[in-house]
Amino acid sequence: MKRRDFLKTGSAALAGTAVIHGLGAASDDASPPRGPAQSSARLTLAPRFGDGRDWWFQKRFGLFVHWGLYSINGFHEQEQWRRRVPRQRYVQLASQWNPAGFDPDAWLDLMQAAGMSYICVTTKHHDGFCLWNTMLTRFNTMNTPFGRDVLRMLADACHRRGVPLCFYYSIADWNHPNYPNQGRHHELPPQPQDQPDLSRYLEFLKGQVRELCTNYGRISGFWWDMNVDGHVDPSINAMIRRLQPAAVINDRGFDPGDFGTPERDIDAGGEALLSFSRRTEACQSVGVESWGYRRDESYYTDRHLMRSIDKYRARDANYLLNVGPRPDGTIPPESSAILRRLGRWHAAMRESFDGTVPASDLTSNRNVLVTRQGNTLYVHLHRDPVSDSVKLAPIRTTPRRATLLNTGGPVAWAVDMAPSDHVEQAAYLRLTGLPANELSSTVMVVKLEFDGDPGLDSAVVRGATMAPDDGPARVRERA
Ligand code: GLC
Repeated sequence: MKRRDFLKTGSAALAGTAVIHGLGAASDDASPPRGPAQSSARLTLAPRFGDGRDWWFQKRFGLFVHWGLYSINGFHEQEQWRRRVPRQRYVQLASQWNPAGFDPDAWLDLMQAAGMSYICVTTKHHDGFCLWNTMLTRFNTMNTPFGRDVLRMLADACHRRGVPLCFYYSIADWNHPNYPNQGRHHELPPQPQDQPDLSRYLEFLKGQVRELCTNYGRISGFWWDMNVDGHVDPSINAMIRRLQPAAVINDRGFDPGDFGTPERDIDAGGEALLSFSRRTEACQSVGVESWGYRRDESYYTDRHLMRSIDKYRARDANYLLNVGPRPDGTIPPESSAILRRLGRWHAAMRESFDGTVPASDLTSNRNVLVTRQGNTLYVHLHRDPVSDSVKLAPIRTTPRRATLLNTGGPVAWAVDMAPSDHVEQAAYLRLTGLPANELSSTVMVVKLEFDGDPGLDSAVVRGATMAPDDGPARVRERA
């Protein structure tokens, strides 16, 4: 049988495969899932905003930065709490704050080399030290030997380069006398000199939010953290939305906000999802122990981070990867080396993320994730491949081309009945001879280009194989 005839008779994958909806993806509402190898799940994409906040669905991969006084001792961003440092002693670190090597463009260069497109920086972490020229507390970068507004410098660079800038802000505060520290998690014990008063503290907080949302040009996101009290007050996000309508707001503030924030790869319930139907931005640090600079940090392997990035990005989620700059403002060499290596991987994988939609419901193989753009599928091997082949039941369609994005080289495939499919007597698409051993420290993604819609039936196909050596024009029929 000639390849063209073969394609004519068997021009697509199984009928009944649930096809995702939205964003121009083909929809197949009429045919309910059926067949033994059918995946049961149906994909629903996270709702788009339909307004200026949709930048977030285009940028997708961002740099998180935890930076503050805690970088000076290089222990952890929560040094004051975790090492039980008395407040009076901790605040003295401000007299050493002089990050002479801080160059926002160097941060943004690294961010872009990593393939990231937006940045989120800690304006104030739990220690209460503010990286901007706030009028509302003296505990800020202006009253230090540095004497410069860090956020102004960063915002100028971001705006000049068109990089969306998001602000992290900790609600818990270990310095402000009105924050009711009660010794709960991420809180100091009550401090003798304080005047705990939540409503006064919230006035201070709102004043700071107003400064952040009015003095630094366009702000693209607000990233709350540590609402220990679980206080609810939708008027605070409402104020941000009034002042900065394009800002996306996370779910750790005073109302549910715009998106969820699974952290450190721990995502209760999320693991099993083929795609997130809720807007989601996973966050993770390159360092195992800390988000802020840690002198003696243990770093995640590239593979761990790639797997983590891949499994969120292939499921319609954003990813925020964190580094902690050193006290001089430079990114630790280990962290920047990780970002550069990830950037090389990401550049090769980029087409499998950008402009694609999740399509893991096309296969029942739960060891892979699938993304799709038109008639092109991307098969993500985000888990440890247990062998050198991947079966994509119930897909039976023959691809026109199969390419390993990591190398640009061809991938062999077959549509034939494997011994394990003898009960069904069915032939499914298999990718074979993958360099799983050679590429064991990365995440592989295979690009499958089809002539037609891979979501249609091709039950007549039997025993077609294509080895890379065969070249694109030769298909052997085996059965
Ligand atoms: C956790 C940490 C905090 C860090 C945050 C980032 O909440 O306690 O220090 O800023 O994660 O998501």
